[in-house]
Amino acid sequence: MSNSKSRPRIVVTRQIPETGIALLKKCFKVDLNTLDRDLTHRELLKKLDGAFGVVAMMANRFDRQTISDLKTIRVISNFAVGFNNIDVAAATGKGIVITNTPGVLTDATADIAFGLLLATARRIAEGDRRIRARNFKGWTPTFMLGQDVSGKTIGIIGAGRIGTAVARRAKGFAMKILYYSRKRNPEMNSLGGTFVDLSTLLVESDFVSLNVSLDSGTHGLIGRKELALMKSTAILINTARGEVVDETALVSALRKKKIGGAGLDVFVNEPKINQEFLKLDNVVLAPHLGSATFETRARMAEMAAMNAIAVLKGERPPGIVNTEVLET
Ligand code: GLV
Repeated sequence: MSNSKSRPRIVVTRQIPETGIALLKKCFKVDLNTLDRDLTHRELLKKLDGAFGVVAMMANRFDRQTISDLKTIRVISNFAVGFNNIDVAAATGKGIVITNTPGVLTDATADIAFGLLLATARRIAEGDRRIRARNFKGWTPTFMLGQDVSGKTIGIIGAGRIGTAVARRAKGFAMKILYYSRKRNPEMNSLGGTFVDLSTLLVESDFVSLNVSLDSGTHGLIGRKELALMKSTAILINTARGEVVDETALVSALRKKKIGGAGLDVFVNEPKINQEFLKLDNVVLAPHLGSATFETRARMAEMAAMNAIAVLKGERPPGIVNTEVLET
C-alpha cells in the first residue's frame, strides 16, 4: 500500500503471532504493545487516540462509556470468538465495526473441552499430583477409580460451532448426545443428538459441557438450582466463560459432592481464581487454553488482521459481528 507515514495506525494490545503482524503491516502502521502485561485502561485509551483501529484482547474492556469516548476508531478487531468485553450496541450506534475470529478455533476449543472431560472423569491431573507427591504405592484393583466415558450421556449446552464439534468427539466415544440451545441445530441431530429442555439435560447427563457465548441470557445459566438437578456423579465442563456458572454455587456443589466433578478452562475474574477450587481434588483447572495452539493462534492472528484490513478497504470483514453497521 502507501508509504508508512500516510498509513493509518492500528493498535495491537498484546503480542500476537507474527503472521498477523506481517499482514497488518502491509496496510497499517502497527502500534504493538510489547509489554509482557495488559495495558491499563488508561494506557489503552491513550494509545487509541488518533488510531484507525485496534486488535483487542478479551481483557480490554470496551463498555459504553469507553466507546463513547473513542473519536477515531473505526474497527475493534477482537482476538477471540467471544466478544463479551465489548458493548456491541454502543459500538454500532457509533458506526464502529466489531469483528471476532469464529471458525478457526472451533476444533482446538472442543479438544480442550474433551481433554478436561477425560482428565476429570479419569482423574489424570489428580494422579499426576500423586506421583509428584511421591504417593504412588502401586497398582491395585481399587486404586483411583474414575468413571467410564464411552457409552455415557453427554449434555451439550449451546449448539453452535464449538458445541457441535464437542458432539462430533462424543460420537467417537459412542456417547448418547443430548443438547439444549436457543435454536435447534440439524447438524446436532445428524450426529445423533437429541434436543431436550435444560432440566432434562441436567437430570439425564453424565457429562455437561457448556458451549454458549456469554450474554445477558447465559450469565449465571448454571446456578444452585441447576446444579441440584445434576447427577451426584455428573461432571461439568466449562470452556465458554466463567460467568455462565455461579462459581460460589459450583464450589459448594463440588465440596458437598452434589456433583461428581468439574473441568474448568474459564473463570469469573480471570486471571484471579476462586481459591476454593484449589482445595478440591474433583476439579481439573486449565488457564483458559481453549484456543491455545500454535496453529490456531496463527489462524486467529491472520483473521483478526484480515478483519481490520477489510474495514480499511471498505469491504465486509470475514468475522463481522455487527452487520448492521455496514448498512449505515
Ligand atoms: C476465547 O475464549 C475466545 O473467545 O476466543
